[in-house]
Amino acid sequence: MIWSKKYETGNTQVDNEHKEIFKLVQDVIDVTIGNADATVEDAIDFLANYTVHHFKHEENLMHKSNYSEMAVHKKQHDDFVAEVLALRERVKNESDTSKNNLDIKKVVVNWLTDHVLGSDKVMADYYRKWLSSL
Ligand SMILES: [Fe+2]
Ligand SMILES: [Fe+2]
Repeated sequence: MIWSKKYETGNTQVDNEHKEIFKLVQDVIDVTIGNADATVEDAIDFLANYTVHHFKHEENLMHKSNYSEMAVHKKQHDDFVAEVLALRERVKNESDTSKNNLDIKKVVVNWLTDHVLGSDKVMADYYRKWLSSL
């Protein structure tokens, strides 16, 4: 998953964490296609753990700024974590690389792209406005 400027939310820490997540997603893909040594389960675990850490950070920003969409946004995070853990089990039990790649693309790549470009940008805009109103 390649980072590009279009994914920038303008919040430096959030953007840096997103870059790291994109890198970890690419690691999962690389392992699936046999370009890396780790197991797919380990690579997905790294991604899931870091993502949970990132979500907590975003939820702190939302909580601090009294963001009205926090419940909706947090539910998107929680649902994603559940989906990634289910994906981990499917990928572990499936040896067909192209099937796994499609699954990863559907569950992880598409969701992250939509979430960063949508909910995260809206949240970061709100947080920036809230900060400048203090
Ligand atoms: Fe988010
Ligand atoms: Fe995010």
